Amino acid sequence: MLELLELVQRKNWEALILNIGIDKISFFTSDLYLPMDDLAKARKEDPNKYLIGIGQSKQAVIRNSQDAVTLAANAAWQILDEKERQSIDLILFGTESGVDNSKSAAVYLQSLLGINAQASGVELKQACFGLTAGIQLAMGHIALHPKSRVLLVGADIARYGIKTAGEPTQGGGAVAMIMSANPRILKINPESAHLTKDIMDFWRPLYRSEALVDGHYSSQEFIDFFQSTFQQYSAKTGQGLNDFAALIFHLPYTKMGLKALRSVLEEAPDDQIAEGLLARFEDSRQLNREVGNLYTGSLYLSLLSLLQARSLREGDQIGLFSYGSGAEGEFYTGEVVQGYERMLDTSVSEQLRQRKPVSVTEYEEIYRSFMAAQPSDFVTDYQNDPARFALKGQKDQQRQYVERKD
Ligand code: HMG
Repeated sequence: MLELLELVQRKNWEALILNIGIDKISFFTSDLYLPMDDLAKARKEDPNKYLIGIGQSKQAVIRNSQDAVTLAANAAWQILDEKERQSIDLILFGTESGVDNSKSAAVYLQSLLGINAQASGVELKQACFGLTAGIQLAMGHIALHPKSRVLLVGADIARYGIKTAGEPTQGGGAVAMIMSANPRILKINPESAHLTKDIMDFWRPLYRSEALVDGHYSSQEFIDFFQSTFQQYSAKTGQGLNDFAALIFHLPYTKMGLKALRSVLEEAPDDQIAEGLLARFEDSRQLNREVGNLYTGSLYLSLLSLLQARSLREGDQIGLFSYGSGAEGEFYTGEVVQGYERMLDTSVSEQLRQRKPVSVTEYEEIYRSFMAAQPSDFVTDYQNDPARFALKGQKDQQRQYVERKD
């Protein structure tokens, strides 16, 4: 009798772990952007180097009144209602732009969003991989607690420095997701392939607000990590290119994903499969082209971009490649759920269209106006920031946040 009960429970559990994934998704970035052709002209580069060679049209210009916490809050509140605020039991905050060396950004977020105090929350750091680490942790958490609703956010500001080679690959913003059982957007398959290597391709010492990077080396490692994890996944599961409707990537700049995809397309069984993957890749980079690197959120902005194109059907398999410098890479897969279109926020493209362009001089002024890591009081330009949540500044060495209520 006991054995039978255990079997039934085990069978249910197996069914459950095949039915966990992304139930809601939202995105936020600044209301300001820099046109990449203006930046190219100012840096005496051919605009096509940025537009085609790097694959970026616009770059989000993050105000000094936004940080990882407010970017995350502005993304997440769009998918929260009172019921959700009470149901969430775990907050996983992926970021490499943390605002404190001790206190987790998840605690600030919980308070700003009014999420119930019984929910726990932590910050996850491994460069751009932090949010993907959160996805894998959420899978295990939901398998143990099937009624759980997990809030995940990836929020960052990508800063390399004015007139550096990394400058055209800056950007910023946040993606927020709710993961649960019976997801309404994407079921995540439990199998994944992972690779970790201690390398110095991109890093940010504690005293710096801008990253240090060995750009060409990092781009080569990105491709090697993709090939290696994709091969590992294929060996584990027997799945190859023909099993996927789309392969999507962390997009530090959109050409990076294209280069990685092209590096495996020779193995495609026929031209139709290769062309299909290239067409879906184009869908998946549209939003990223307009924003730049989000670090932790980039892969998930690309997912949103792909889903918004509405070219996928129920049951289609998507392969997702996550890369975080330093470095960790992971290839995992998901299955598109029937009716996913109904769960997508239709205003994202409109929000991007409504942004205001800034000149290169204005962008440089905003860039230099950021609050440095220092003890004195500071007031940001929060009064000019139309976002719901903003950083007001620092008082007595404590960050001050404001919410503009409707
Ligand atoms: P660069 O040296 O200025 O550019 O830096 P380039 O000379 O290599 O040119 C870029 C591309 O433009 C090349 O194409 C050129 O041929 C092309 P590719 O050979 O790569 O296919 N090009 C043109 N195309 C059309 N018309 C033209 C023209 N001129 C040139 N007229 C670099 C580029 C990406 C290295 C730099 O911007 C950089 O260092 N960026 C930051 C690092 C980065 O994004 N690395 C990506 C992998 S690491 C990663 O993804 C992790 C990360 O997100 C951080 C994290 O994990 O936290 C960064």
